[in-house]
Amino acid sequence: MINLKTFSFLSTLPGREVENLKKLGRHLKLISGTPLIKEKEPFKEFILLLSGQISVGKAHHGKRKTIFSIDPGNAYGEVEILNGTTTLTSLVGTQDYEVLLIPKEEILRLIGLYPGFAREIRSSYCQRASLLLEEGVAKSRSGQIICFFNVKGGAGKSVISANTALMLKKSYRKKVVLVDLNLCFGDQPIILNLPNEKNFFELSRIRPPMNFEKIQTQLTVHPTGLRVLFSPPLPEQGAQIRIDFVEQVLEILKDNFDFVIVDTQNQFGDLEIKTLELSDMIFLMTTMELTFIKNTKLIIDLLQKLKIPREKVKVVLNRAFKSLGLEPSQVEVSLRYAISHFIPSEGEIVIPSVNTGTPFVMQKKLEGSPLIVALEKICSRLVGEDPNPGTWNMFSVVKDVFGL
Ligand SMILES: Nc1ncnc2c1ncn2[C@@H]1O[C@H](COP(=O)(O)OP(=O)(O)O)[C@@H](O)[C@H]1O
Ligand SMILES: [Mg+2]
Repeated sequence: MINLKTFSFLSTLPGREVENLKKLGRHLKLISGTPLIKEKEPFKEFILLLSGQISVGKAHHGKRKTIFSIDPGNAYGEVEILNGTTTLTSLVGTQDYEVLLIPKEEILRLIGLYPGFAREIRSSYCQRASLLLEEGVAKSRSGQIICFFNVKGGAGKSVISANTALMLKKSYRKKVVLVDLNLCFGDQPIILNLPNEKNFFELSRIRPPMNFEKIQTQLTVHPTGLRVLFSPPLPEQGAQIRIDFVEQVLEILKDNFDFVIVDTQNQFGDLEIKTLELSDMIFLMTTMELTFIKNTKLIIDLLQKLKIPREKVKVVLNRAFKSLGLEPSQVEVSLRYAISHFIPSEGEIVIPSVNTGTPFVMQKKLEGSPLIVALEKICSRLVGEDPNPGTWNMFSVVKDVFGL
């Protein structure tokens, strides 16, 4: 049975119209690596992704580059339909996937009839149009801001953000800066075993206007070459940093690095809202505890109200473990959101790595371990390398992690 409940924009339609879409739609199940549509072909059907994952890419200098990926509950096609263009991108499954394809004339009919539906489609159009309509990708040299977020402590935001930043630098040779926006109680100096004399507070005392040269004087260099902007050593110093200053610094860093990896504090305040708006991708870190799942669901709803595009928000299930009384599929059902990444629970590796200040991605003996493999999957997604369809499959990750 097709369930369209995860498509929040369809809730603006009467139930009978939603039922009608199920009848009219073409339901396809395809295997990982199968293209769904190609760039420049006529665009005929609106796409609802029911399960799996699809990468949306564009040709750039003869090579396909992923511009974003869509998860279940995401749709694709409003820009082509409203602009009347041919297909602007190519869509390929990065896992086995299932779609419902709706004739574009039907979407146009619903837009004409239901103002609420038209508003939803328009809002999604506004978020994506410039990205899809520009000729080729990567026309600007600016990098991506990747934010690790949840309102609850203990999700692994700090540990996983630090290790992701290190891996992007060390194994993918990207220009990376890690920014600790836990401004009052930052943990990064301990996780990375680095001094924090250079930090956000010292930066805020430099005479404006801010520029990259001034920021560089307050970046700490890790032996891998990763740059880190630490939070101030004292909470009262952290409390003095202004949101517009943080915004300015993040924008300058984005122009000068491939990746700006942001660790956040356990709050949903104005600083976090600004950071989430500026981010190109949000990793919503969660664990399999019910309290986490409840809060994560509330955050997903709030992000939607803040009009943060759904494709920017990826749920990462950290400390995933079998037999905790909850299955990952149950987590997805209660969140009404797909889990994009799993990170296994490896207390015997992660906790000592923090206590000794030796991040686990720096430990040679761990190469090929499930924890490192999980992080490699996150990083290869971030750098836009389409993972080998033969090796990337959500089920295989679930199998790795849960030993199924
Ligand atoms: N995948 C994991 N397996 C085992 N322990 C983990 C994992 N990820 C994080 N932890 C542990 O969970 C605790 C909280 O992690 P932390 O990064 O400080 O969370 P947050 O920054 O979200 O509050 C730490 O003790 C960390 O070592
Ligand atoms: Mg933290």
